[in-house]
Amino acid sequence: MKTLFFSARPYDERSFAAVNGRFGHELRFVGPRLSVATADLVRDERAICVFVNDALDKPVLTRLSATGVRLIALRCAGYDNVDVAAAAELGLTVVRVPAYSPHAVAEHTLCLILALNRKIHRAYSRVRDGNFALDGLLGFDLAGRTAGVVGTGNIGSIVARILQAFGMQVLAHDPVPDAECRRVGIRYVDRAELFAAADVLSLHCPATRDTYNMIDAAALSQMKDNVMLINTSRGAVLDTGAIIRALKDKKIGYLGMDVYEEESELFFEDMSGEIIQDDVFERLLTFPNVLVTAHQGFFTADALADIAGTTLQSITDFEQGKQPVHALSFE
Ligand code: NAI
Repeated sequence: MKTLFFSARPYDERSFAAVNGRFGHELRFVGPRLSVATADLVRDERAICVFVNDALDKPVLTRLSATGVRLIALRCAGYDNVDVAAAAELGLTVVRVPAYSPHAVAEHTLCLILALNRKIHRAYSRVRDGNFALDGLLGFDLAGRTAGVVGTGNIGSIVARILQAFGMQVLAHDPVPDAECRRVGIRYVDRAELFAAADVLSLHCPATRDTYNMIDAAALSQMKDNVMLINTSRGAVLDTGAIIRALKDKKIGYLGMDVYEEESELFFEDMSGEIIQDDVFERLLTFPNVLVTAHQGFFTADALADIAGTTLQSITDFEQGKQPVHALSFE
């Protein structure tokens, strides 16, 4: 099936080409993000493939539908960038990749925790500069401390079990507790208890109305001083203004972010020669105890292969008139 890829990078082309031999779809890749202005890049494709920062709001979906597009394939898990009601109204099928190597994001979460704690981001440049002093690099043992995990789905449940293996006491909060987490002794508590108890708080819930700006001034006031906060879920779960104030007040001792609410203007682009206009983001980068990665949690060879395989299978199912397994339900 002819499919146009938006926001395509060389690694997308490589990972999809590597598995497309099994499927034989006609794939075309373009670099721009999907928007009303770029929707017209569609020629005769009936399927498009998009990523996390492509806009799938009503005007875009309407324009795509008018060009003959019937299938939207998200090569990611989250679908908060899709106006689901508009897609349903237009009769579009939307598929996603609900679970691709959840280990990729879980392990990246651990990278952020360990690097922040032991200040690896600072030690790296210090040692290369011939400075072998340890002042300012003091860490703490994770073993014996308390971790709080918000959302124990595919990713959060793995993070919870890894942190438990580090010797941490792990508490979790999720409206739908995970049976395996419970079996291994992870205790589910309400949000307030989780916030109050956690030395390390890691977010793995989706971006929804309920989780929008979940970590705001009120939530931060319930937390321990010097808390470590890690967000590899979606940027909108943090109230970034409140986070900056809490960093300045030393309420937050460590912040690790792989996602940022306004990331669509920045991430996945080389902007090293540009003047960054987002002052909030730039302020975050000035703190020595903040470590930001640009939405790379998913970025392992294994996850890319899973994403390509699942996406191309969904396209095949749709082409053959079957309901793809990973289609969004519009009920
Ligand atoms: P999932 O759907 O398997 O798990 C999400 C869990 O959050 C579910 O168990 C759900 O019950 C829970 N949840 C929903 N509302 C909640 C609330 N208000 N409070 C607490 N828990 C709540 O999703 P998955 O695959 O584990 O992804 C987790 C997050 O990671 C999502 O936000 C996703 O967008 C993000 N993600 C980030 C990536 C990255 O590269 N940084 C890559 C893939 C996913």
